[in-house]
Amino acid sequence: MRKKVTVVGAGNVGATAAHWIAAKELADVVLVDVVEGVPQGKSLDLLQAMPIEKRDVQITGSNGYEETANSDIVVITAGIARKPGMSRDDLLNTNAKIMADVVGKVTAVSPNCIMIIVSNPLDAMAQAAFKQSGFNRERVIGMAGVLDSARFRTFIAEELKVSVENVTAFVLGGHGDTMVPLPRYSTVAGIPITELMDEATIARLVSRTANGGAEIVKHLKTGSAYYAPSAAAVEMVEAILKDKKKILPCAAYLQGEYGINGLYVGVPCKLGERGLEQIVEIKLTEPEAAALKKSADAVKELCTIIGMA
Ligand SMILES: NC(=O)c1ccc[n+]([C@@H]2O[C@H](COP(=O)([O-])OP(=O)(O)OC[C@H]3O[C@@H](n4cnc5c(N)ncnc54)[C@H](O)[C@@H]3O)[C@@H](O)[C@H]2O)c1
Repeated sequence: MRKKVTVVGAGNVGATAAHWIAAKELADVVLVDVVEGVPQGKSLDLLQAMPIEKRDVQITGSNGYEETANSDIVVITAGIARKPGMSRDDLLNTNAKIMADVVGKVTAVSPNCIMIIVSNPLDAMAQAAFKQSGFNRERVIGMAGVLDSARFRTFIAEELKVSVENVTAFVLGGHGDTMVPLPRYSTVAGIPITELMDEATIARLVSRTANGGAEIVKHLKTGSAYYAPSAAAVEMVEAILKDKKKILPCAAYLQGEYGINGLYVGVPCKLGERGLEQIVEIKLTEPEAAALKKSADAVKELCTIIGMA
């Protein structure tokens, strides 16, 4: 039997995530949105691409949750996105209300699902979903690090004129200005980038990565990035559905790891059929640990505002 993935929010990120899932033939997809007609129209359109793409998956659109029952994975992208001049944190109160609504409805019909949270501000929304669902931490995971590290990888590959396939990057911390890229663990064909670029170049790429979302918002003017964000969420979906035991940077609920307790922060996670199967801990230098703490403090502040700390 095919697996079932629900994507809540049929906007830019949600609909494109449905596209990647279907294109990779990973699972049947149910697309849910509050706007009448949009999930139905987009899913019908996507379904009609399947004969061309030679993919056998069912794609359904709905304004309710009945069709989502017993999903294996639910990707939550519902909420408002940034406009120029807005920070992710400006979305906090609106998206916290939307998250509460969505999580209640999702868990009522898919009590055994794994939730992947995408809505911003990411770490606080993952924390809200975790607390509201009552799920264990293995089944509520936030997407940010895969995107942030993909952006870093893109810029490294471009700078060194090498294949993106050769580049790995390591990013810790919250999704936002306080994220913590770790150049000494970012490599090209196994060679740390610190051996291949000078400090100033690395600093420039790190800064562009941290502001990667805002750079796109500035171009688009009416919304935020969605191709890479949705591809990142679907990499996590694939790792879980195929039980790949893949180590990816994700927002996870820390219980003492990295000296942080009771908070969602981006760390290297092993993803497999049970969801979050392991948090990989590495020894940080003092400046790295301080940067991670600063990032965690920023997440905590947001969680406190919405009563989820
Ligand atoms: N974690 C990340 O790295 C990352 C990256 C990109 C975008 N995002 C976030 O993802 C979210 C979605 O971005 P987008 O570009 O797709 O926005 P969008 O506006 O295109 O789509 C959001 C959709 O959510 C729907 N929605 C609103 N309330 C809902 C509810 N209660 N139930 C179901 N659907 C509801 C809207 O109708 C809309 O179609 C934003 O919060 C954005 O900031 C996160």
